[in-house]
Amino acid sequence: MNPIKGEQLLAQLNWRYATKEFDPMRKISPEDWSTLENALILSASSYGLQPWAFIVITDKNMRQQLFPATWKQRQILDCSHYVVFTAKTRMTEDHIDRHIARTAEVRGGTAEALKRYRDVVVGDVVTGERAAQTFEWAARQAYLALGNFMTSAALIGIDTCPMEGFQSDEYDKILDLGAKGLASVVCCAAGYRSPTDKYAGQKKVRFDRADVIHIV
Ligand SMILES: Cc1cc2nc3c(=O)[nH]c(=O)nc-3n(C[C@H](O)[C@H](O)[C@H](O)COP(=O)(O)O)c2cc1C
Repeated sequence: MNPIKGEQLLAQLNWRYATKEFDPMRKISPEDWSTLENALILSASSYGLQPWAFIVITDKNMRQQLFPATWKQRQILDCSHYVVFTAKTRMTEDHIDRHIARTAEVRGGTAEALKRYRDVVVGDVVTGERAAQTFEWAARQAYLALGNFMTSAALIGIDTCPMEGFQSDEYDKILDLGAKGLASVVCCAAGYRSPTDKYAGQKKVRFDRADVIHIV
């Protein structure tokens, strides 16, 4: 364990801002992108179920096609990597079984030994009360991954813009997400700020500490 200093963390969090104008000439290196993919993969999720897929749109034509459904926000065209955070629309026993099998594979042991745990999870997210709202539940997990992605990017000097300004139904059609049991939740453009982005120099607008942190 090699913790970074608190002041370093806060410096990077203050450096981060929702980038409006990306430098279209600058691309994230394969090494840094691989780091960010790992940050996505390492995101926490309820029961560790990872009810998501991160669709990385690199194809220029596809970005052009998505542009009108992105409220014509230029970030999708100019950024280096554009990620659509999608969530599973349904939780199935098959998904839980895949997770259990993966757990046994990675940690050793057998799926049989995990059967009781498996049944608890199925009873909650597949057949229990939560099952009626699994997409909303999965979407919340996807937002956690978004936060993790943005903070990780900031820590290695990569700019991002989280984006809810898009038409998810259009995205789902264009990306054929329904066929994969997925639906789009939120997006994030990543890359490098343009030197002309006036938003980079703006002060952060945040409520006072006492407004948002309540010590009980
Ligand atoms: C979930 C989410 C969705 C957002 N959607 C957009 C968007 O579509 N376009 C945009 O330019 N900024 C978007 N933002 C950026 C916010 O406006 C920005 O984070 C907020 O004003 C705080 O500023 P800061 O991130 O620069 O500190 C979004 C932020 C979040 C967290």
